[in-house]
Amino acid sequence: MEGQKRILCVGLVCLDIISLVDRYPEEDSDSRCLSQRWQRGGNASNTCTVLALLGAPTAFMGALAPGHPARFILSDFQRRQIDVTHLVWQGQGETPCACCLVNRSNGSRTVTLYDTNLPDVTAADFERVDLSQYKWIHWEGRNASEQVKMLQRVEDYNRNLPPSERVQTSVEVEKPRPELYQLLSHGDVVFISKDVAKDLGFSTAREAVLGLRSRVKEGSTLICAWAEKGADAVGPDGVLVHSDAFPPEKVVDTLGAGDTFNAAVILALSRGKPLGEALTFGCQVAGRKCGLHGYDGIV
Ligand code: ADP
Ligand code: FRU
Repeated sequence: MEGQKRILCVGLVCLDIISLVDRYPEEDSDSRCLSQRWQRGGNASNTCTVLALLGAPTAFMGALAPGHPARFILSDFQRRQIDVTHLVWQGQGETPCACCLVNRSNGSRTVTLYDTNLPDVTAADFERVDLSQYKWIHWEGRNASEQVKMLQRVEDYNRNLPPSERVQTSVEVEKPRPELYQLLSHGDVVFISKDVAKDLGFSTAREAVLGLRSRVKEGSTLICAWAEKGADAVGPDGVLVHSDAFPPEKVVDTLGAGDTFNAAVILALSRGKPLGEALTFGCQVAGRKCGLHGYDGIV
């Protein structure tokens, strides 16, 4: 029964329109790209894709507005067998879309997101989620003060349950926005990005996890991924853990590398693996992703 419980990711879903280019174009130039494709994007949505490919029962919660992008996104969730029972349909606003340039020569990705005025999932929406259906809930930091309320709801729910029935939680703080930093003190696992680490005055992942340890709640794990330098983490015991990156033969597409890393780490930890193993698995799967266009072939 426990094995059937899903991992739920809460956050952004958008339409990525991806152009593969030979080199990054000059401003105001007119050039051709090598190929173009639509892909379901958004950090939480990408994390669901990778979880599903790794074989975990997965669910997504986020907002959509009716229209062409939403139809494409929905059918793609279906194709990946990602449960969307808790999608929030908004009558106002548009589904966010992103223009993504992927440079074939080095795999760099340049994203311009039109993050529309579509309202994010609220704590009131989250009240409708039956927590007993989930073994893990992951939040991509967005509307932080609402998300703190959702995390508190899970903390309250867990309080009187034996450890095996508790819902584990994780939070991703990716954008260097001060309002998101309140999320650092919530969640059993906190992922911070290189950009956030730099914004807070750190120049390596190791420095960041050691320096920010006092900002996460007692018993939590803090993780920081750093592109080709791999990732570092400190667990509840205060021990520092590191994994090198696993570069593919050729890096062709790094779009969603961080979301992939998060998915693999969450899956490993949700299966009771030690932190060091989870970090290594995260870097292995993320490294494989960097050698592929999109996610197919990751396992
Ligand atoms: P993002 O910028 O997508 O949020 P990161 O750059 O922090 O993600 O990378 C997340 C993980 O992906 C890294 O820890 C690493 O394991 C892997 N990764 C990213 N870029 C590369 C790369 N160029 N070569 C090898 N692995 C990479
Ligand atoms: C990748 C991604 C893309 C999306 C953008 C949003 O991490 O989620 O799929 O366009 O970031 O910031």
